[in-house]
Formats: sequence, C-alpha cells, structure tokens
Amino acid sequence: MREIPEEVKKEIERLVKEINYHNYRYYVLDSPVISDEEYDMMLRKLKELEEKWGYILPDSPTQRVGAPPSEKFEKVEHREPMLSLDNAFSIEELIEFDARVKRLLGTTNEIEYTVEPKYDGLAVELSYKDGLLIKASTRGDGYVGEDITLNIKTIKSVPLRIEGVSVVPEEIDIRGEVYMNLDEFERINSERQEKGEPIFANPRNAASGSVRQLDPSVTAKRKLYIACYGVGYCRGMDFKTQYEFIQWLKEARFPTPVVVKKAKGINEVIRIVKEFEEARKSYPFETDGAVIKVNSFELQRRLGAKTREPRWAIAYKYPAHQGITKVVEILPSVGRTGVITPVAILEPVRIGGVTVSRSTLHNWDEVKRKDIRVGDYVVVERAGEVIPHIIGVVKDRRTGTEIEPKMPDNCPVCGSKTVREIGEVALKCINFNCPAQVEERIKHFASRRAMNIEGLGEKTVELLHEKGLVKSFIDIYKLRQQDILKLPGFAELSSKKLIEAIEKSKKTTLSRFLYALGISQVGEYAAKLLAQNFKNIEDLYYVKIQKLIQIPQVGEKTARAIEQFFSNEENIKAIEELKEMGLTLENPEYMEKEKPAPLKGLTFVITGTLPKPRDEVQALIEQAGGKVSSAVSRATNYLLVGEDPGSKLVKARQLGVKTISYEELIKMLEKE
Ligand code: IVH
Repeated sequence: MREIPEEVKKEIERLVKEINYHNYRYYVLDSPVISDEEYDMMLRKLKELEEKWGYILPDSPTQRVGAPPSEKFEKVEHREPMLSLDNAFSIEELIEFDARVKRLLGTTNEIEYTVEPKYDGLAVELSYKDGLLIKASTRGDGYVGEDITLNIKTIKSVPLRIEGVSVVPEEIDIRGEVYMNLDEFERINSERQEKGEPIFANPRNAASGSVRQLDPSVTAKRKLYIACYGVGYCRGMDFKTQYEFIQWLKEARFPTPVVVKKAKGINEVIRIVKEFEEARKSYPFETDGAVIKVNSFELQRRLGAKTREPRWAIAYKYPAHQGITKVVEILPSVGRTGVITPVAILEPVRIGGVTVSRSTLHNWDEVKRKDIRVGDYVVVERAGEVIPHIIGVVKDRRTGTEIEPKMPDNCPVCGSKTVREIGEVALKCINFNCPAQVEERIKHFASRRAMNIEGLGEKTVELLHEKGLVKSFIDIYKLRQQDILKLPGFAELSSKKLIEAIEKSKKTTLSRFLYALGISQVGEYAAKLLAQNFKNIEDLYYVKIQKLIQIPQVGEKTARAIEQFFSNEENIKAIEELKEMGLTLENPEYMEKEKPAPLKGLTFVITGTLPKPRDEVQALIEQAGGKVSSAVSRATNYLLVGEDPGSKLVKARQLGVKTISYEELIKMLEKE
C-alpha cells in the first residue's frame, strides 16, 4: 500500500467536511450557498481522490449510495427502549393528561410543555459514537429493531457526522421520524401503478417500505426526509429540557420538526395545538396530530413510563379524515395514457370539510382484493391533499344484493378491445385514436423528435382539440389554413407556416413515425431497432412476438406491446389512411441482412469448359463470397474442372489442390 501524502489526506478531509456542510445547507436548510455545478465538481474531485488513494472517511458523502444490498436486516437492541405514545382524541383528554401530570408530580403549578407536530412516518434511531453515525435502526418492538444503516445513509439530510456544535457527546442515540412528502408519495404510486405493482396505501407505508428495503439503491431513489425529535441513550452530555435538546439538534445540523413551541400550562398547549391544526394544511407532508411533552427532562424522569408509553407525553390526534358511505356505481375511466381504472361513484359524504362523491380504485386487482361491490358501504379516507381512497368494505352491512363489478372488455370511450399485459395490473385501451387519449398522443405525435411539426406545440394541440378540429392524427393532415386562422394567436403568416410544416412532416422516416405512434414501451431507441429490422411499416402489420424477440435488445414486454398495437384493426386502418393522405416513410436505418456467403474465404481457379459461360460462373462464386483467380498456386482452395481441362489440372495435382466439378460447386452454393 502506498503511503498517502499528508496533503492528500488533508484535502480529502476538507472536501468531506465542505460537501457535508453544503448537503446540510441544501437538504436541511433548503438554502444552498453554492451552485449545483460547484457541488458536483467537489464531489467528483473527492471521488477521484478516494479512488486514487483508497482513503475513504467513514462520513464521506460518497458512502451514501451504492452500498451492496444486505441479505436480511440484522437485529439491533435499543439501549433505551423506544416507546410509543398515548393518544388524546379531544381537548378534554388533553386537560385530563395535564391534571394527571400535575397529580403525579404533586404540584398545582403550571407545567411547561413543548408542542411539536406529530409526523406520520417511521420511527428510527440514529446512533452516533464520537460524533460519527455508526448505526441506524427501526423501532421494531421498541426493544429490538432492524439494522437499516445503509438505507438511512441514503437520506441526504441525515448527518453522517455531528458538526457545528462545540460539544459532541461521546455517544448519543437520536430518534426521529422518516417520512415522505405527498407529491413523492403520489409519484411513486403512479409509477407503481403503471408498472402494475401494488400501490402504497399512504405516505407512511411508502416511507416505511422505502426504508425497510433490502437494497439501499431502491431507498436512494425515493425522496425521504427525517425529522429528529428525541434522545435515547446519551453519554457525555446533559440536556436539561426537550426544548434545549431540539435547539442543540438544530445547531448540530439535524433536521427537526418544522416547528417546536414551548407552552406554559395546558391552555397555551390547546391554543398551539389548534394553531398547528391550521398550519398542517400547508405542509407538503402529513402530520396526524401534535405531540405534547413535559419540557423538563428531570420531571420526565420523575414521571417515568408505563409499559409502552411514557407518562410525560401524549399525542393529540386530529379528527380522522375518514367517513363511511355507499358505492353507487363502479365505472371504468380512461386516463390520458390509455390506462383504464375503476372509479367508485359514492353517495356524497363530508370528510374533513369537503364533500367526497368519487374515489379512484387504482386498478381492477385492487377492487378484487378489497372485494368492493356496487351497493357496498365502504370506509373512505381523505388524507391531506391526497385524493380520497377506499380503505375497505363494511361487510357487516351487506344485504346480499351487492353486485361485483366486471372488468370491461371494451374501452368505455372508443369501444376498442381492452388489453392487459401478462403480469401487469393495468388494463389498457391501445387504440391510438381513442378520444380519451388523443390529446396527449397528438402532442407526442407532433413533437420535435417525433413527426417534428414545427408550430404544432402543446398549446396549439390543446386548442385544436378543444375546438374539435383535431380528433385524431389524421385530422392534423385535414387542417386547412382557414381553420387555423380561427385559433387565437394565429395570423395569415403563422397559419400558412403551420400548414407548410404539416405538409413537410408527411415525408419522414420509419423510425420517427414508429416513435410518433406512441406505442407503449416503444421509445426512440426501440423505434430505431424496429426500423433497422423491418424495411416497411407493412412488414409490422400483424407481426408476432416470436419474430420481434429475435431482435437482440427487444424484450418480451416490448415485443408484446408492439404485437398488440399492430394487431389492432383501428390502428392499421389509421396508418393506411395516413399513407393515402401522402405520408411517405423512408427507412435509411434498415440494415440489409448479410447475405449468406458459403464460399467466404475460398479461392477458385477455373479450367475447361463449364455448362455455363465462365463469367457467369465467376459471378456466382463471387456473389457467394468466393474469389476467382487465374493461376493455380498453393493459395488456391479449389480447381473447378470442366470438360477438356488444361495444364492447370496438372499443376493442381502437383500442388495437392482439391478439384471439384460444376455440380459439386452448385451443391456448395446451396449449403447455406
Ligand atoms: S416522541 C416516548 N415526537 O409517533 C416518545 N414522536 O404514536 C415517543 N412521532 O413512535 C416519541 N412525530 O414514531 C415523538 N414529534 C414527535 C413525533 C413522534 C411523530 C411518532 C413516533 C412515535 C409515534 C407514536
């Protein structure tokens, strides 16, 4: 091992510190002080040095991702049990809690509390030794949790080293909640839905599922946050109050709850709790209540804990965003991408201040799994800004008249046959002229990398669609200048230009056109592959999977989507109509299959009279990859012998060159 120069070590240490600081600015404070480029450059520099010298600090930001997946979670014993919280569902119960605290402490004085939002996520413990993050664990049963260190390290706001404070405890276990924002939750769910994977019921499950992943690279792809609010085992520091501890956490660059307030007496607590209930509506994440804690750690110790909950804290839960109502109907609804989802039409019910009358059921498997029938009473939840969803059926209220919904065989909008890919949850309409999808499809069709119709941007497509001027791809080519002139923002010249651009787009390439069609799974790359392997679009009509998967790099899923697309009568009719309107597809990408070359590398010499003229025979040999030379030498592979051979035959015999007849040559040619 090479000796690492002191300057290199110093530089690596400096970079680690600096990048960790900028991580904190970016992920915790939301106020970066350098540009992304500068940040990336520093990170790249650090990576290079680490690779070159093999000197990687334990708190290096490069260690946050890419760690190898562990087989299963190791168990971690919490040095102080991780307790749960007692709940208060009303203001009265809060007042009772305060009275109990006072009674147990034997005082009539007002108690000082802290009030924090209750984050709805997954409780974790972060263990630091000499300021360095050494372990992270889930709560588990409160005594033993799972080792999730690698996963937690992918959360950028988690400090890998405690910095920014003058005193760092020798050992400290910090507790917090890992959570996910609502937009990320929705993003993941729609991605999962597209892929046909089961969706997460709420952001909490999504956060928990993301952290309790065997593969940390999956965790790294999810946007997770943490709010730290508690201390477990601690050696080398003595905090006096919860509030003081939170201030220390902030200084030490830990993300803490958005707001933590001190309150003298329960009345002030009640006022703050109500204030939070208003404020939570504007948070991008979910809070399901407020946590009220006795501020003094000394008093906390005196109050102690029951088996599972401390006596010094309580969670005030906001009224649940749930209600019970009847399913009037279950209708299929076609999304803009062709996915057909079941939607439950509900008897209107007020939940959390709004009237709910419909709820998406995500997919048909979910309807089956939850066994939701028309006529059922269901529990509906509206969490934060999330669309209401059905949690389950109140089966006790069934009368026997409920009707199981059926997955539609035809698209409810265009009537085209629905398809469902094997192993996929999503039911789809793949008719590319389906009115429900047409706007999105046309936008894609006209876009720069597809048909490249200049001037036909998203806004114009929306206008044309809205005005009923364009209901399919074909309609684009039927547009007249006077139609376009009617649109806002178009004048003589611009409308003329658009017509010209439309006309120009008729002459395009097969790969662009295939991409423009918006076939599921077929992006630009797959479109190119198809163009390389199929000379004309007609060669793709009614193409079979078996043929498609012979193309290297075309997987089964893509092949199936292509087969489905080109087995749809409507789609073929539409393509044919486009062709009639002048669409011409060049295919410069088509690669002629290499011709069989049975004579490749072989040299022939001809002697005597053959059944065919010599130049014809020579051409035959050359087309099959062989060569013809005039004189026999050691390099000659075969002497082709006709009638009345000359001296070449003698020479060939001397050199041991093989001789063949014309018939034998033909046999060789037929070999391939
Ligand atoms: S204090 C013994 N503070 O709520 C103290 N918990 O329902 C227990 N939670 O297990 C934790 N936000 O996962 C505390 N500001 C907060 C919290 C919080 C969310 C979670 C935590 C706890 C659960 C109890």
